[in-house]
Amino acid sequence: MQQRALIIESDGQGGTRPQLQQRELALPRLGRVRVEVSHSGLNYKDALAVTGRGRIVRRLPLIPGIDLAGVVSASADPRFVPGQTVLATGWGLGEEFDGGYTNQADVAGDQLLVIPEGLDPAKAMTLGTAGLTAMLSIMALEQRGIIPEDGEILISGASGGVGSIALLLLARAGYRCVALSGRPEAQGDFLRRLGAQGVLDRAELLASKRPLDSARWAGAVDVAGGATLHAILKSTAYGGSVAACGLADSAELATNVFPFILRGVNLLGIDSVHCPVHRRSEAWHRLARDFPEAGYAFLRTGTVGLEGLPAAAAALLDGELHGRWLVEPGR
Ligand SMILES: NC(=O)c1ccc[n+]([C@@H]2O[C@H](COP(=O)([O-])OP(=O)(O)OC[C@H]3O[C@@H](n4cnc5c(N)ncnc54)[C@H](OP(=O)(O)O)[C@@H]3O)[C@@H](O)[C@H]2O)c1
Repeated sequence: MQQRALIIESDGQGGTRPQLQQRELALPRLGRVRVEVSHSGLNYKDALAVTGRGRIVRRLPLIPGIDLAGVVSASADPRFVPGQTVLATGWGLGEEFDGGYTNQADVAGDQLLVIPEGLDPAKAMTLGTAGLTAMLSIMALEQRGIIPEDGEILISGASGGVGSIALLLLARAGYRCVALSGRPEAQGDFLRRLGAQGVLDRAELLASKRPLDSARWAGAVDVAGGATLHAILKSTAYGGSVAACGLADSAELATNVFPFILRGVNLLGIDSVHCPVHRRSEAWHRLARDFPEAGYAFLRTGTVGLEGLPAAAAALLDGELHGRWLVEPGR
């Protein structure tokens, strides 16, 4: 069987370069499942890996692509049979292990999920790691008992992948959502169409230098970290919870303990990469049930084949793309 893949290899000068390659594949090894990949996604991590602008790839050569979905074409794991539609996200795919930018991927059976009813590979990859992370954040808030009647929920980076999906799902579930934005004039319309009842300028949130601000948020989903997370924590209401899942602002967190010891605020860590199977399975079933049909077309702003990936990855990092881009490795 012929495999066609985008491969990241050494450029011989300390850097990396993406290269399209074909090779003959032997049958999958014991415990592994071959997936005919119809769709993958283009995440921030993927763009860093393909362009070589970030240290994502941990061994060379490697097929990038942290998400993949398609149909089982051969299986050396008794839990999977040819013809099943499956997906995999995270687990080091596209970082330590070969990922989804190929027409045929061999994936450990332990890392695969059967795509739940209501989703197909294209829908699953429109959501991808961003959708999984958004849903894990919402489930964490729910687990802390937060309900729509508790008050406003703040979502940072709401124009991005994780934030937009979290905003759409929370608004549909009846929560009063406020979207935090670095460009409220440019993004206001988009954020309101996703369901935001208010749009807050990031500069306004960050302006206060007080150790504790007025208690406002019943909960928050934060993709930013850094000063943004600090500002969210100190404006979270008594007993509120903040799901922290990203570092779009900074990986550092300089804050104080007042929100924790005076207001009982909870800081909830969210990881989608090594999230246990039972929890990710629950999250994907929730996405299949709760994500609205119209949301897919709204979020999906482009598709690209393997040849177009280097240019698309560079455009994403240069801020020229928005929404979710699908990758079709067989195109
Ligand atoms: N924990 C996990 O498992 C997991 C999974 C997926 C992603 N992530 C992380 O989550 C973050 C978001 O991922 P994504 O895929 O949603 O990225 P994305 O589509 O690139 O969106 C990032 C968003 O962050 C906002 N942003 C940019 N610079 C900012 C700053 N300095 N301060 C505050 N907000 C800023 C932007 O909104 P504005 O337009 O308002 O600037 C943008 O909408 C990334 O850090 C990513 O690594 C984590």
